[in-house]
Amino acid sequence: MKKILVTRKLLQENDERISSLFDVKLNHEDKLYSSDELIKLSEGCDGILAFTTTPFNEEMINRLPESIKIISNYAVGYGNIDIEAAKKRGIAVTNTPEVLTDATADISILLLLGASRRAYEGRKAAEKENWLWSTDYLIGKQMTGKKLGILGMGRIGRAVAKRARAFDMEIHYHNRNPLSKDLEEGAIYHKDINDLFRNSEFLSINCPGSKDTENLINEKTIKNFPDGVVIANAARGEVIDDEAMIKAMQNGKVFALGLDVYRGEPKINNKYLKLDNLFLLPHLGSATTKTRIAMGDRAIDNLDTLLNQNKEPKDKVN
Ligand code: GLV
Repeated sequence: MKKILVTRKLLQENDERISSLFDVKLNHEDKLYSSDELIKLSEGCDGILAFTTTPFNEEMINRLPESIKIISNYAVGYGNIDIEAAKKRGIAVTNTPEVLTDATADISILLLLGASRRAYEGRKAAEKENWLWSTDYLIGKQMTGKKLGILGMGRIGRAVAKRARAFDMEIHYHNRNPLSKDLEEGAIYHKDINDLFRNSEFLSINCPGSKDTENLINEKTIKNFPDGVVIANAARGEVIDDEAMIKAMQNGKVFALGLDVYRGEPKINNKYLKLDNLFLLPHLGSATTKTRIAMGDRAIDNLDTLLNQNKEPKDKVN
């Protein structure tokens, strides 16, 4: 049997399946291994099942034993892995697309609603019993009929658009290239992100994290939004320049922000925590049992295809 190192804890259903297919080193204690521990544990292994919390930079990749043929990432994103360095060493990298699309799109909508309808302030007031219903108490922004910009109209962005149509929103989007008409479903394409931002009363960030998308929302680009925009980020923290965002939230340019992801998470820029117009979640995009089992299955399929069937895995990204 081929040998696999699993760097974090899997759900039991996935444990059982991977153990039936491979000789596997599991991490039931869910320990966050150091680089040295990872290298040591991967000795004698043919593949690694990794997570977004397991960084594989070039140096780490180059230290991996010769026997490693694949890093199967349990995530749709793979910014934690230097895929080019892996390619140079002949190591395949795979991800888990499709299976987390709905769960993550739901969280994008939750962030938009939580931010625009002031859920954080509402929860605080309700807990303290220091509120009195009145006609102008905790007035938020309503999504109905507004323009929604989607930055990154891949599978998740399109699933956000589908949900937003139920709010009668007008959908605008930016991708490197326009989608075909049947995938667009009436959404309006903007080649230039500043044009997208000018047309975004609400913005949902759903693009991959990469050098190309880092700080797309910055001091300069943020000026293009209509005053009082509501922004939600369920993609990667690095897409936002936090200092520029905090300033815009303080001066009202941004009415409210919903975040599920952070630069250097679980750390958060402390200035955010002084703001009431912020709705926060701790990276819950894919956090449902059904989705997490499906992600594990997909990551296991990729290992199985390459190592047991000698075929190219469906989700190879490098
Ligand atoms: C989660 O962040 C993922 O990329 O799947």
